[in-house]
Amino acid sequence: MGAFDRRRETSMNPNQALWEKGDFTRIAESMRESGEAVVLDLGVIDGLKVLDLGCGDGTTAIPAARLGADVLGVDIARNLVAAGNARARAHGLTNCTFRHGDASDLHDLDDDSFDLVVSIFGAMFAPRPSDVAKEMVRVTRPGGRIVMGNWIPNDPTLVAQILRISSSYSPPPPEGFVSPMTWGVEGSVIERFAATGIPRERISFSRDTFTFASRSTPAAFVADFKNYYGPTMNAFAAAEEKGRAADLQRELEDLFERENRSETKATSISATFLRVTVAA
Ligand SMILES: C[S@@+](CC[C@H](N)C(=O)[O-])C[C@H]1O[C@@H](n2cnc3c(N)ncnc32)[C@H](O)[C@@H]1O
Repeated sequence: MGAFDRRRETSMNPNQALWEKGDFTRIAESMRESGEAVVLDLGVIDGLKVLDLGCGDGTTAIPAARLGADVLGVDIARNLVAAGNARARAHGLTNCTFRHGDASDLHDLDDDSFDLVVSIFGAMFAPRPSDVAKEMVRVTRPGGRIVMGNWIPNDPTLVAQILRISSSYSPPPPEGFVSPMTWGVEGSVIERFAATGIPRERISFSRDTFTFASRSTPAAFVADFKNYYGPTMNAFAAAEEKGRAADLQRELEDLFERENRSETKATSISATFLRVTVAA
């Protein structure tokens, strides 16, 4: 990395830098089947106006568009926006567009403009969660829905554990930082939507399962996280400085091996998430 790139990286919004650092498409390839299953459950009909926040390269946006929805995907990472638009073109979809933006500030989107706002493990990673809730409610039309998939703190399954292990090797977050995992706590979700005027009875919760399926071995799948998943990349950089990268690698490999249910050399790991549905 040259001096200019280094300066640019440090001056950039750290949330954006985190997700542009790696290449989430490498992980998303293992998420397609469950992404489609989540979408099939959303009751998508022809012409439904859908906003997918923190859409990545379209794991949910593209199946929704294939079912006939008119989809806008918004993501903070420009590389993923480009990957999403390329995937939409490859699928011949003209009803699916990806755009760079921040889930906590959707200033270029009108009030009441979507029937369904969906965010599967996306908006939970945006800073300023209260603003995220406010923006999601603002752009959803009255009578519309918001559906979020959020990882759950202290959950024993894969992603909560990757994030727990990764943060145990990372420096403490800056003061005022609100953990993305708080979106997996029902009380915090209720509080955030209450502040936008949504009463408790319009919010429902359920536990659901998302499966990561890779043709790689668990150890090779860990390497994908190490090389392409921003939060794990940062954890390895911090662990390296303390001479503890091998410990981090071992902890992650143990976790992936323990959770793997594939009977071949491949990887199939299910993780529990909190599904939040809000009637706007
Ligand atoms: C774990 S990935 C999930 C991506 C996608 N929803 C999926 O299921 O494949 C998290 C995504 O949230 C995006 N993201 C993080 N902070 C964001 C923000 N402030 N606004 C919009 N997107 C954001 C990241 O760039 C990344 O694409």
